[in-house]
Amino acid sequence: MPTLDWIGKQAVVNHHREVPYRLVHCDSALSAGDPEAGNLLVQGDNLEALRALLPYYAGKVKCVYIDPPYNTGNEAWIYNDNVNSPEIKTWLGNVVGKEAEDLSRHDKWLCMMYPRLRLLREFLRDDGAIFVSIDDNEVHYLRAALDEIFGKSNFITNVVWQKSYTSNQTAKHISDTHDHILIYARSRDLFVMGKLARTEEQKATFDNWDNDPRGPWKAENLSAGKFYSAGQFAIVGPDGREFLPPKNRYWRMNQETYEEWLADGRITFGKAGTGRPMLKKFLSEMKDELTPNTWWNHEEAGSNKVASTQLKEIFPGDDVFSTPKPVSLIQRILTLGTAPDDLILDSFAGSGTTGHAVLEQNKQDGGNRKFILVEMEDAIARDVTAERLRRVIKGYNKGGEAAKSVEGLGGGFRFCRLGMPLFDEFGDVAAEVTFPDLAAHIFFSETGVPIPQKAKGEFLGVFQDRAVYLLFDAAHAETPREAAGNVLTPDRLDALPAPPEPFEGQRVIYAEGCTVSKDRLKSAGAVFKQIPYQIDGV
Ligand SMILES: C[S@@+](CC[C@H](N)C(=O)[O-])C[C@H]1O[C@@H](n2cnc3c(N)ncnc32)[C@H](O)[C@@H]1O
Repeated sequence: MPTLDWIGKQAVVNHHREVPYRLVHCDSALSAGDPEAGNLLVQGDNLEALRALLPYYAGKVKCVYIDPPYNTGNEAWIYNDNVNSPEIKTWLGNVVGKEAEDLSRHDKWLCMMYPRLRLLREFLRDDGAIFVSIDDNEVHYLRAALDEIFGKSNFITNVVWQKSYTSNQTAKHISDTHDHILIYARSRDLFVMGKLARTEEQKATFDNWDNDPRGPWKAENLSAGKFYSAGQFAIVGPDGREFLPPKNRYWRMNQETYEEWLADGRITFGKAGTGRPMLKKFLSEMKDELTPNTWWNHEEAGSNKVASTQLKEIFPGDDVFSTPKPVSLIQRILTLGTAPDDLILDSFAGSGTTGHAVLEQNKQDGGNRKFILVEMEDAIARDVTAERLRRVIKGYNKGGEAAKSVEGLGGGFRFCRLGMPLFDEFGDVAAEVTFPDLAAHIFFSETGVPIPQKAKGEFLGVFQDRAVYLLFDAAHAETPREAAGNVLTPDRLDALPAPPEPFEGQRVIYAEGCTVSKDRLKSAGAVFKQIPYQIDGV
């Protein structure tokens, strides 16, 4: 199989595993609405933010949507699109090392994207999917990278979205009016693509000129190309004309069914009664569900212009962000990729369109979807992403020509920032780490799945054949380990709460030390793991 290679690849393919786990702190002053709504906006580099969120959300996200920098080389954008922002430069310097100086624009972009895509995959549910917006600058490299990370067989499609409906007459060669949206499933067999509702325009193509009581209908071809031996009879029209199926085609029904349809008023010969026979397909009898196709026109999915107008209405008079996506585009993705209770993740949040679309979609279908957004630039996260969400949650005064007040969509979100790494430079648990923080991390690193609930006591939970325990008092720094209860002693072992029945597996107990003999541990069906040395990810 052809493979993708670039300068720096070796340094980044597994880099996502080396990124330190950080604490996440919420800032209530920048949060808005109901803090318990389950929505998060995290300010920080998404590599670190995703790693920090993984212990809580691995395998729980139904739909990832990202709109990363397109790598156009256009320096004039509000955020730096050609992967030259100071944070990313430092990161590339640290991770890729000296080689970073020779990297081309495309090498840098791939170095930036690859570990982030690898982490994003870990957030997806088995039946989930990732949707990635991109344009022609990187679509070919992105597709090859996604093939590698998600598996070629999990490629679903490359949607073409009509981002602009006017041609740029000053384009050097040809005017670029579309973006791509690459869709990959975590597992192609488990992902089910949603359907689209019929639009009013599509409904308007049904007519009812004969006042049929069953309502509007559309004339459908009665013949098909597939051989059907019973579909070769002559149909006699109202004026006595005989109709045979066209050459190499067959009626799609036998004569008996035809007679039934005719008697039921389901066959039309046109207004004059002299046309070829057609089947009347009634709108009222059709499912209001259409299989989506790969062409998303601006009338249905919105355009870049619509997106800018939407943002200007929320921030009248300010040009706060130059590359938003339209809310309708993301709502379409939510329609196809989520059910009403699902979790959506966007780690290149920008102006927060994904959060806005989730709230809007919930309002429209009564859903309870939740979102996690990550935005690196502090000023954007605070003044644009969070502020937009705050305004659409609470309501705002729409600017522009049709100025009026817009009712709030309700809901809420917590604004969070990344704190220090869980482990200090010596590999010890950092002093700021609380019991629930460490518990979440240990449960995840032991089992690969998020902790079932916020830890309160030493028993953290069960996953498959393992029950996980943690003996750790965060205030241990000043206290001898054993006195702080951070050591597994024979008495502690006997006193540990039993996992809920039925349980036949092993008890894995994390603590700073252990005074229980190996034999005793074995006969108690227990394994001791020492903090911090035997915690993955230190
Ligand atoms: C194309 S914009 C996304 C626009 C968004 N879809 C919207 O509708 O507003 C990309 C965003 O990703 C942010 N970004 C770039 N690199 C990032 C990183 N490493 N971590 C988090 N955010 C990043 C940029 O600051 C920018 O706001």
